[in-house]
Amino acid sequence: MSEEVKKFKITIDGQETEVAPGTTILEAARQIGGKSVPPAMCYYKPLETSGGRCRTCLVEVSKGSEADPRPMPKLVASCRTGVMDGMEVKNLTSEKTQEARKAVTEFLLVNHPLDCPICDQAGECHLQDLGYEHGVEQTRTEFERRTFEPEDIGPYIKLHMNRCILCARCVLAANQLTEKREHGILFRGDHAEISTYLNKALDNDFYGNVIDVCPVGALTDRTSRFASRVWFTKPMNASCSCDKCSGKAVLWMKGDEVIRVTARQDQYGESEEWICNSCRWDKKDVKYWNIEGPRHIDRHSVISLNHYQKAADEPVLLDNPMAKQISTKDEAQAEEQK
Ligand code: SF4
Ligand code: FES
Repeated sequence: MSEEVKKFKITIDGQETEVAPGTTILEAARQIGGKSVPPAMCYYKPLETSGGRCRTCLVEVSKGSEADPRPMPKLVASCRTGVMDGMEVKNLTSEKTQEARKAVTEFLLVNHPLDCPICDQAGECHLQDLGYEHGVEQTRTEFERRTFEPEDIGPYIKLHMNRCILCARCVLAANQLTEKREHGILFRGDHAEISTYLNKALDNDFYGNVIDVCPVGALTDRTSRFASRVWFTKPMNASCSCDKCSGKAVLWMKGDEVIRVTARQDQYGESEEWICNSCRWDKKDVKYWNIEGPRHIDRHSVISLNHYQKAADEPVLLDNPMAKQISTKDEAQAEEQK
């Protein structure tokens, strides 16, 4: 008879949940759901060894564990720190965490161009969301930003190195989805850049997925560049019979035209299943697809607005009966006005 594994109790922003040993703080927060989930610019659950690079997911551990209740001396990366039994974590409720996130956002934007008005990722860019929540209005840096010329990586992908935040998700995706490793991050420090040899490694049926994993507009689909702002398109769940992948994708439509095809992504922008290049690029026509219906975009995003429903402002609590709802600012204000 298999022994039942004792679960670890963790409290995040006053909300309690139980997780299996080995779970990270970030995954525990996702189990609770809502606004206590730290943002993650480099962690990507379907990619092994992702995380630990961007520091946007920093949280304060105010109690290490039941056995050793001392707080952790520094903020920790929640995507790489395992839960201990009795651990208490502060994310939204920690001033230190919020300050650190602001600093990390500023750091990520030091070299990032503010070209959202012409960037194809605008509206679904995680850095844009982060900048909106934690960014400062003015830059404190005077030196020139590092600049690169945009490059074509094969016929379908454009690399805008200026926008890259070196999260390494594309490197891991190409590495884990292709057979040979001929790419990566070249150089170190502020000279670091994504190798253009990426195109050599990308001779594979699944290389288009590097576009979907990029949290910013550094890797974009050349076949749909500048075709439409994402919020003017309608995402539709669609499926086709495909012998390379599951054939389950999202068609981004404008009228009857398929602007682009992407993998289906969850509320954290992570692909549920990789799609093949043939579905992504050869089938940009409704005749290849069975349209299942509108795709609900779970993330708080402009894409969800004006289409099917207004994005809810309240924290969403997932299946966890122990979780308590955190008051949102609006609720607190409403209470005050009573
Ligand atoms: S190109 Fe995109 S996915 Fe690749 S490292 Fe840069 S930001 Fe990350
Ligand atoms: S998401 Fe944890 S360090 Fe990037």
